[in-house]
Amino acid sequence: MVAVKRIGLLTGGGDCPGLNAVIRAVVKTATRDYGLEVLGFLDGFRGLVENRFRVLAEPDVRGILPRGGTILGTTNRDNPFHYPVVEDGRKVFRDVSDRVIANLRENAVDALIVIGGDGSLKIALALYEKGVPVVGVPKTIDNDLSGTDRTFGFDTALTTATEAIDKLHTTAESHHRVMVLEVMGRYAGWIALEAGLAGGADVILIPEIPYRMERVCDKVLERRAQGKQFSIVVVAEGARPLGGEMVVQRRVEDSFEPVRLGGIGNVVGREIEERTGMETRVTVLGHLQRGGSPTPFDRILASRFGTAAVGLVVEGTFGHMVALRTPRIVPVPIAEAVAVLRQVPPDHDLIRCARHIGICLGD
Ligand code: F6P
Repeated sequence: MVAVKRIGLLTGGGDCPGLNAVIRAVVKTATRDYGLEVLGFLDGFRGLVENRFRVLAEPDVRGILPRGGTILGTTNRDNPFHYPVVEDGRKVFRDVSDRVIANLRENAVDALIVIGGDGSLKIALALYEKGVPVVGVPKTIDNDLSGTDRTFGFDTALTTATEAIDKLHTTAESHHRVMVLEVMGRYAGWIALEAGLAGGADVILIPEIPYRMERVCDKVLERRAQGKQFSIVVVAEGARPLGGEMVVQRRVEDSFEPVRLGGIGNVVGREIEERTGMETRVTVLGHLQRGGSPTPFDRILASRFGTAAVGLVVEGTFGHMVALRTPRIVPVPIAEAVAVLRQVPPDHDLIRCARHIGICLGD
């Protein structure tokens, strides 16, 4: 046990269903079990740099368990080690991490809990290496963090994507069309693969398995020859053709990770229509996947992560994040979690299952 009286808390990176459930669990556990004070820094690392926070007590977290988003605000910009400042009328980037450390000291914050994905946890690790006692909580709809079986937020995104496929099925069948659904996930195909399996997709394209257009069209045509006049194609935003590139939608220069993927669904849809002659429509699910109320699975995982994170703070296990190693919640070094992105292994059980069912993976 270490002498901790006050903890800081922030949510960083893209928002994600379950953030409020973690905040609630942290505040309740910290205040009820350990008599700690909690300062919630606003808008991710920006609040830490600008010293903007609010004190969080139990009444502040009442009713937030089912709410999406984060009551603290967040941003996927504003890395304190590469922070945008205006000098002589020009935007330049500076390392302002010493300001963060000074703010934590001034507010007598003994430990910091960072709820974030890959980018935010890399910053958390860098702060830890500068001496800040940090504990991480893995968040992302992409499910692409190593060291944990699941991140919270993924299950909700998966549910939303599956519901979308179910809805697209009806139009696909009625109109004898090919319906293409583009889902998020950055460089990992978890959302596409699991939603595709759950929704009964005919084709699933993921970044880990570059696709050949002729294979995709063969599948659509084979189905038509069997009397199935429609097909459902789920495309991860990071999917790419064999020998080709991912489609970049834009660059957000101040962001921890400037590249924003998107647009591959339209490329795939256009080619299917041209090559097969079948009427095709494309839906890009976008940020609907990040919104809404967390599923029961995510509410429970987020609550478990929140309580476990306070436990790590109190026992002094810093530089670690909480992780799900089913059925337990365990500490994992943040360095391990951010070292490699957790992509779908091409021999993963779910990939094998998809192939057995007859789903085309484009290869
Ligand atoms: O990491 C979560 C995520 O939703 C990705 O799936 C997606 O590529 C990205 O964030 C979108 O970021 P933004 O909200 O900046 O457009």
